[in-house]
Amino acid sequence: MKIIVTGGAGFIGSNFVHHAVAHTSSSFTVLDKLTYAGNLASLEGLPADRVRVVQGDICDAALVDELVRDHDAVVHYAAESHNDNSLDDPRPFVDTNILGTFTLLEAVRRHDKRFHHISTDEVYGDLELDDPNRFTETTPYNPSSPYSSTKAGSDLLVRAWVRSFGVRATISNCSNNYGPYQHVEKFIPRQITNVLRGERPKLYGSGENVRDWIHADDHSAAVLTILERGVIGETYLIGADGEKSNREVVELILTTLGQPSDAYDHVKDRSGHDLRYAIDSSKLRTELGWAPRFADFEAGLRATVEWYRKHEEWWAPQKDATEARYAAQGQ
Ligand code: NAD
Ligand code: DAU
Repeated sequence: MKIIVTGGAGFIGSNFVHHAVAHTSSSFTVLDKLTYAGNLASLEGLPADRVRVVQGDICDAALVDELVRDHDAVVHYAAESHNDNSLDDPRPFVDTNILGTFTLLEAVRRHDKRFHHISTDEVYGDLELDDPNRFTETTPYNPSSPYSSTKAGSDLLVRAWVRSFGVRATISNCSNNYGPYQHVEKFIPRQITNVLRGERPKLYGSGENVRDWIHADDHSAAVLTILERGVIGETYLIGADGEKSNREVVELILTTLGQPSDAYDHVKDRSGHDLRYAIDSSKLRTELGWAPRFADFEAGLRATVEWYRKHEEWWAPQKDATEARYAAQGQ
């Protein structure tokens, strides 16, 4: 197959391209605007005869049409992805996440191509810490932030294009990813690189908020499974039973790097901060036979810490500007 990977120079998209090159015989065209979050260094080492990069905007209808016409499928990762940025300036989130998805949907509709839409568990809002329920495919949408509301909007567009126009699409909503190539603005890489630089990790608010962590490689395997065996029109939740409070994660990072577990600071909380996410991925596991490989979060986190320790040349150029932005926000 010839597959377009939008956002393939970002964190999860680049992990997907590495995974899919190793596990399929398909060829891949990365369509990426190379915003501050895109990094061609994340695609280094991939075979040039199977991976091509086109720098471009998913809102550019002419470019998208031309590319979609020549491919079999689109796996759509491109997005503005960071909640904190969406609180600062929501406009790019509306443009890329909603108009960009619309532009892709119109092209796959015109050319009758397979489409897989990557989304997030944040569309379901948040859970109380003691709620015995987890998110499932039938949980009502209730997004909190400009980021998650634009992702929810994009999911609804995909559902409508399936029902109204017969577009051959599937959707997946995944929990928080960690692993190599994640931008230092995000929680885990920010804290690892802080400690590596001799600075203290920064916990928003009390640190009791819970995220459900999954290794990016497990997310990639799940997406390939859905692309190959998913039922058109269906939504699949992806998660690896990895619930941890932010405080537990920071303590693990500190002890992994040989520091006292309490050597962190509490900083200003995020506005509207979701309390807890938790995924029930039974449908994907029972109907399509997927299971995570990185079942042990602590081992996956240690490997991720090691990756950042060895790849300072990858993250150092982004670190100062990212921390300057956080400092201006009091975080
Ligand atoms: P990221 O910010 O690391 O990467 C996004 C990529 O999209 C970048 O390479 C960027 O240059 C590109 N991009 C942005 N706007 C574009 C545009 N208009 N046209 C073309 N390319 C554009 O994001 P990520 O964390 O890798 O997330 C990827 C996808 O996965 C997103 O759709 C996100 O909503 C979803 N997701 C993320 C997580 C997570 O934990 N990070 C969890 C579930 C779902
Ligand atoms: O759940 C999936 C979502 O996970 C994806 O849709 C998003 O694209 C992705 O960014 C992520 O969203 P979060 O807001 O959960 O991730 P983030 O890494 O920004 O923060 C994780 C948690 O850590 C959250 O509770 C906020 C907190 N935090 C974050 C930063 C950057 C801190 O305590 N300190 C920090 O410095």
